Amino acid sequence: MQYAAETAKATDAETVPSWPVFDEREEDSVTRVLKSAKWGRGNGTAVASFEERYANLTGAKHCLAVANGTSALIVALGVLGIGPGDEVIVPPYTFIATVNAVLRFNAIPIFADIDPATLQMDPKRVEEQITPRTRAIIMVHMAGGVGELGQVIEIGRKRNIPVIEDAAQAHLAEWQGKHVGPHGTLGCFSFQASKNLNSGEGGAVVTNDSALAEKAFAFHNNSRGRTQPGTEFHYEMSGANLRLTEFQGALLTAQMSRIESQALRRAGNAKVLDQMLGKVDGLTPYRVAKDCTRNAYHLYMFRYDAAKFGGKPRAAFLKAMAQHKVPASAGYAPLQDEPFLQNTFDSRGYEFAYGKNYFRKWRKRNDCPVNRKACGEAVWFTQNLLLGEPALFARIEKAIAAWVKMG
Ligand SMILES: Cc1ncc(COP(=O)(O)O)c(C=O)c1O
Repeated sequence: MQYAAETAKATDAETVPSWPVFDEREEDSVTRVLKSAKWGRGNGTAVASFEERYANLTGAKHCLAVANGTSALIVALGVLGIGPGDEVIVPPYTFIATVNAVLRFNAIPIFADIDPATLQMDPKRVEEQITPRTRAIIMVHMAGGVGELGQVIEIGRKRNIPVIEDAAQAHLAEWQGKHVGPHGTLGCFSFQASKNLNSGEGGAVVTNDSALAEKAFAFHNNSRGRTQPGTEFHYEMSGANLRLTEFQGALLTAQMSRIESQALRRAGNAKVLDQMLGKVDGLTPYRVAKDCTRNAYHLYMFRYDAAKFGGKPRAAFLKAMAQHKVPASAGYAPLQDEPFLQNTFDSRGYEFAYGKNYFRKWRKRNDCPVNRKACGEAVWFTQNLLLGEPALFARIEKAIAAWVKMG
């Protein structure tokens, strides 16, 4: 394949912006914590101050900052009392953390297949997967878009099953004009280094339920609630130390000063990509649900249809993009086929607990053909690409035109 002429060095305006973005705001806030000598949330104010701001941003009554997004999911499942043998419905098109959190409790992840047009969990498949053992549903807002959240919440409401929003990728995303997170019983966010809001590592749980918020605080604080003096070494439940540091709290507050302007820029450039790809038969952006009123664009995802390009595989397309200095990736492999599931079930005696050939039966019930196909077709651009200059998008257009021309 001939792309050599196109692999000339990209100018600054053509390159993908580096991430994270920071300046003296971050430097000052972290230095302030350093000099205060109050580095943990127990004696500082930076984490609590961030929690208040993030609760305001999401419109949730309560926000608890935690060590990372995985911890946020663990706290949410922990306060709901998820335990061995409980079934938790999750989408297969997600990062492994969603499933790992369920497995931490020796609970059973049950996959509800995705909608091929959005890559978000399909409420019809959720309904089919519910059994008397179902104890929670995790709706992931994949890539910062939102699927049929209202239908999933309604399914949960009718059957008295709590819905956790995994909004790890969805800061500022909205459903019916309101920020994601507090629509369900609990919402979980990640502030890991690649995320649209970043403190290296970090996470948050939001909720409108005051009793669950108190429990969440105790869970993340090694079982110690906001106790009265004299009761601090008496414990109601098992928890862990999942606390965020004051440095991260301060960093997050500084990073929040840019979150809105960055989101607007991403959305503007996503529109440019929508128009660009709209002209190419075979490259189709995944859409969001009608009631998703704001897409956070942690990723820009589109479908590569090999049949429209003479059967040339997606890998060749990705290679061609790379040769034009356009970083694109294939995204997730089908999670339901990954060996960690059988290995975990085997090593923790699930067969002993749930009967012979349990994994084989589980496997049959969790096949998810739509996800398997989607994992073979999706292409991702990352959120920092969406912060680029017009020259970068001109470069992408050129790269795609060259690909189309090759036929
Ligand atoms: C959908 C989803 N859930 C959970 C997580 C876990 O977050 P963290 O990496 O902060 O533990 C991630 C992180 O990438 C994620 O994408």
